[in-house]
Amino acid sequence: MAIFLDTGDVDEIERFLRMGLVRGVTTNPTILLRDGVHGGLPAIAERARAIAKLIAPWPLSVEVTTAEPAMIRDQARTIASWADNMVVKVTVHGPEGELAPLEVVHELETRHGIRVNVTAMMSAQQAFLAAMAGASYVSIFGGRVNNMGYNACGEITKLRALLDRFGLRGQIIVGSTREVLNVVEWLEAGAHIVTVVPELLRGMLVHPYSKETVRQFLRDAAESEGRRPEDRPVRPEDRPAR
Ligand code: E4P
Repeated sequence: MAIFLDTGDVDEIERFLRMGLVRGVTTNPTILLRDGVHGGLPAIAERARAIAKLIAPWPLSVEVTTAEPAMIRDQARTIASWADNMVVKVTVHGPEGELAPLEVVHELETRHGIRVNVTAMMSAQQAFLAAMAGASYVSIFGGRVNNMGYNACGEITKLRALLDRFGLRGQIIVGSTREVLNVVEWLEAGAHIVTVVPELLRGMLVHPYSKETVRQFLRDAAESEGRRPEDRPVRPEDRPAR
């Protein structure tokens, strides 16, 4: 799977889809608000349906907007009904450490066949338990882990070893990308997927020395054709007949 896009911006998703670089999309309430989704669940539904259709069959994660267990259950069913490739994001616990959300995760995965991405996790131990509860995806926030002074790579490596050793099927998503180097280092550490903000995907691709090299090739091609580098090359069929 390797790379998901961490965005709610349809134009960005379309751009990277055209390059064949999208294997899934993740969102959260903060991302959707930043990407112009106002109006609560109906507005989220509209954007999510559009993205899910664009990227199908790749998965789209959309987060519930509540920490209240009965409402998580209801919203999860609603979100899952928007498209076949929907994955429901549920935080590992409530804002005060309430444990009920994980009960709902277990129920959704085992009784309702709804794929869940357990999110907002900062450690291997949290994600290991979420995987035991049956989550299809377990999301560790690598950038936030590093910001707290811990090493995300260490947590990812430990988690991958545990999942493999105990045969747990949860896929590790590492999000909260902050630097271009996070993507490859977290994949190397054992993440199944890194979910990347579009700016960093651009940063992975564009290199100053590649730019200089391309400019050199274009300059020399122009010289060989007897035109100035800033002039567009003329297609053979458009050249005046002699
Ligand atoms: C992805 O699933 C997460 O919701 C996201 O990457 C969090 O990123 P942040 O730490 O920049 O909010």
